[in-house]
Amino acid sequence: MYLILNPALRQANHGRFEQCFASGFTLGPRLFLKQLPSQENPCAFIDQGFFVWKSAVEQAFGVRTELSQELLRFRESSLWREGYLVADEFVPSDICMKLRALLYHPEETRTSFPIHSLLGDEDDASFFDDFIEDLLCSWSRRYLPYGIRLIPWRIYAYQTKSEDQNLSMRWHYDLDQPDHSLFLMLNLNTPSGEFCDFGTFFLDASQSMLLSSRTGYISTPLTHRVKNINEINYGGRPLSTDLIRSKCGSVVAFQPGRVLHRGVNNPGGVRQSLHISASIVQDCDVPLLGSGSAPSKIPTITEIVQAVRGEEFFITPSPYFQQSC
Ligand SMILES: [Fe+2]
Repeated sequence: MYLILNPALRQANHGRFEQCFASGFTLGPRLFLKQLPSQENPCAFIDQGFFVWKSAVEQAFGVRTELSQELLRFRESSLWREGYLVADEFVPSDICMKLRALLYHPEETRTSFPIHSLLGDEDDASFFDDFIEDLLCSWSRRYLPYGIRLIPWRIYAYQTKSEDQNLSMRWHYDLDQPDHSLFLMLNLNTPSGEFCDFGTFFLDASQSMLLSSRTGYISTPLTHRVKNINEINYGGRPLSTDLIRSKCGSVVAFQPGRVLHRGVNNPGGVRQSLHISASIVQDCDVPLLGSGSAPSKIPTITEIVQAVRGEEFFITPSPYFQQSC
C-alpha cells in the first residue's frame, strides 16, 4: 500500500524531471535555485527513489567535484550524523519575551508570517537584525566546524495552535530541501495546557536512510504520509524516535531533507517560534544576491538578513558545485 517508487510513474516523469531542473536552476560555476521552492514545486513529485533523489542535481548536470575538507569535517559532526541537534536554554528568556512582544500582536491570527512586515520601526528592525546575527554566529561557532557558515534565506514567525493539524503532523522529509539545508527553530515560549504536548518527532539520519531505502517511504505523494511510523516499518527492527518538546529559549536545528520528522501539537496551548531556513556553506562560497552577478565580497549576516527581510533574494548553494577556492 505504501509502495511509492512506482517504476511506471518514474518512467513517465523522467522528461519532466530533467526539464524541472533545467528550468528551475541557474547553472554557473555553482548551481542556484531561481526561486524559493513551493508546495507546488514539481521537484517534490519526482519519483526517482531516495538515493536518486539525493543525487538528482548531480544526475541532471553531471558536474561533481570533491567535497572539501571543511565539508568533510562537517559530515563528521554530530549534527550531520544525527541530522538534528537541540541546544537548550540557548537564548535567555527575557530576550524571548522581547521577541514575542515584537512579533505577536493580540489580534494576530496567522499561523506563520514573514517577519519583515512587522518591523516598521527602525529600532525594532535593528534589534532584530542584531539578534539574528548574534544567534547565527554564536550557534555556528559552537556547532559548526571552522570554515563552515550559515547563509539564512527565509525568516518566519510561527504561532501554532493545537487545532492546526496539517500534513506536517505526519512523517515526512522536506523533499525540496537539499542535504545542506538547515532549519533552526527558536522556541519563544513553553506551550502549556492540561494535555499540552508540543514539539517535533525525529527519526535520526541513519535510521531515516535505512527505512527509506528498505521500504521506499519518502513521504510523497502527500496522501501516503503516515502518522504512525510503525505502519511503514513492515516488521523491521523497532525504530527509535525522539520527541523534542518545545521549551522557551531552546534552538532545534535539523536537516529537513535528511531526517524524517513530524510536528506534534496535542491539545492545549500555543507554540510561538522563530524559523530560520539556512544553507550550510563554506566560507569561500559567495552567495548570489538578486539576479545580478556575484558580489565582490562575502555579505555579512546582517546584510543577508536585511535582504531576506526585503525578500530580495534566495539562494540554495549546493556543496556539489564548488568553485576551487
Ligand atoms: Fe517538515
